[in-house]
Amino acid sequence: MFEQIQIQKEIFGEGENLLRCGSAMAMPKDIRALYGKAQCVYLDPPFMTGEKYMRRRPYGEKGWRTGTPSCRYPAYNDQFTEEKEYLRLLRRLVGAAKNLLSETGVFYLHLDWRMSAQARIMCDKVFGKDRFLNEIIWGYESGGRSKRHFSRKHDVILLYAKSQKYLFDLTKVPLPRGEVRRNHMARGMDETGRAYSYITSNGKEYRYYDDEPVYPGDVWTDIGFLQQRDPERTGYATQKPLKLLERLLLPVTRPGDLVVDLCCGSGTALEAAQRIGCRFAGMDVNPEAIAITLARLKPENLTVICPCGKEKAELLAEEDPESGRFLMKGLAEENAGFPAKATPADNLESWDFGRIENGVFRAEKSFRRSFRYPELTMSLRAEPGKIRAIMTTDAAGIRRAYKR
Ligand SMILES: C[S@@+](CC[C@H](N)C(=O)[O-])C[C@H]1O[C@@H](n2cnc3c(N)ncnc32)[C@H](O)[C@@H]1O
Repeated sequence: MFEQIQIQKEIFGEGENLLRCGSAMAMPKDIRALYGKAQCVYLDPPFMTGEKYMRRRPYGEKGWRTGTPSCRYPAYNDQFTEEKEYLRLLRRLVGAAKNLLSETGVFYLHLDWRMSAQARIMCDKVFGKDRFLNEIIWGYESGGRSKRHFSRKHDVILLYAKSQKYLFDLTKVPLPRGEVRRNHMARGMDETGRAYSYITSNGKEYRYYDDEPVYPGDVWTDIGFLQQRDPERTGYATQKPLKLLERLLLPVTRPGDLVVDLCCGSGTALEAAQRIGCRFAGMDVNPEAIAITLARLKPENLTVICPCGKEKAELLAEEDPESGRFLMKGLAEENAGFPAKATPADNLESWDFGRIENGVFRAEKSFRRSFRYPELTMSLRAEPGKIRAIMTTDAAGIRRAYKR
């Protein structure tokens, strides 16, 4: 009933935001079209760890509900033959970041101890030393411990401004004062019952009320790495916490501003941008990253550019004239990439129906599994013949398009 076809582009709503598969080494035209328009570029590129990352993907309703069953798939390679090759990628990314920014825009580059020194020198050259604003230290406790040296427990996030007119409003990220330790200070309470810490210097008393906000400095230890069972976790290696991205984006953007991430991975920066009302454009060389990111975003006002998988899989769906319902059964198991024990329904992670216009899939309705909603809608009321084209993502993260 449905025939598998190749579609590159899918549009939800007005299609204003962008999610695309592609390499920063060959900057695609639709990203270049955004030059000069971004208020914030956040980049969390490979760190040159030498690792080949895998991704654990839950599948089927049970998998999305409990984390098991799941299957392991390659995520991305952080292997470079030599430092020169890595620096070539970094130079492309930093150059593109500068081109993307508007005059009030800022750039975050997220790295760790391996390449942050080289990156600092590179960014000083590209942006100018006087455009450097911060080296943020994000400290965490997760992972193994070394006995040969102090354990390396922080990432480095460099912050640069495009020009002196950059936007920055720290009051958007207040921290409750209670979280800030002031052990060296005495405690007091004023006549209205408000508690405070105080210090006296040169005969003057400085008060810090518990109920007044404080603002983050450049060392952040209050945001943990995502734990195994964190509901936010997508299974994508090196996924960053939303809380971290919200703290980075809030002070440097206003609702409606454009946020760009050229190595979006599981899409944390894009989800954070969507949550705070910003527009966004994200790219990643890895189609798996695009599928995961798409599953995290609200499917509205978005253009997705990503090649469909070439592997054949039969879409099992039928109309039931008696009940007037369209019944989605899933994807047949002929594709070697599916988890061995999965049923056709398990093989399906998301589906959208819509129409195809000039080779573009225009989505009308989307259904997707998530940790919050592991159950997938498989039956809907629909007039006979109404559902003409379907886009699916399977349990291995591969997208496919079908038309009648
Ligand atoms: C550290 S991960 C990003 C993680 C992401 N911030 C998150 O929270 O999930 C780096 C990403 O860079 C992508 N990448 C590597 N080389 C790339 C290239 N040439 N162009 C675009 N993306 C690339 C990888 O596929 C990977 O998803």
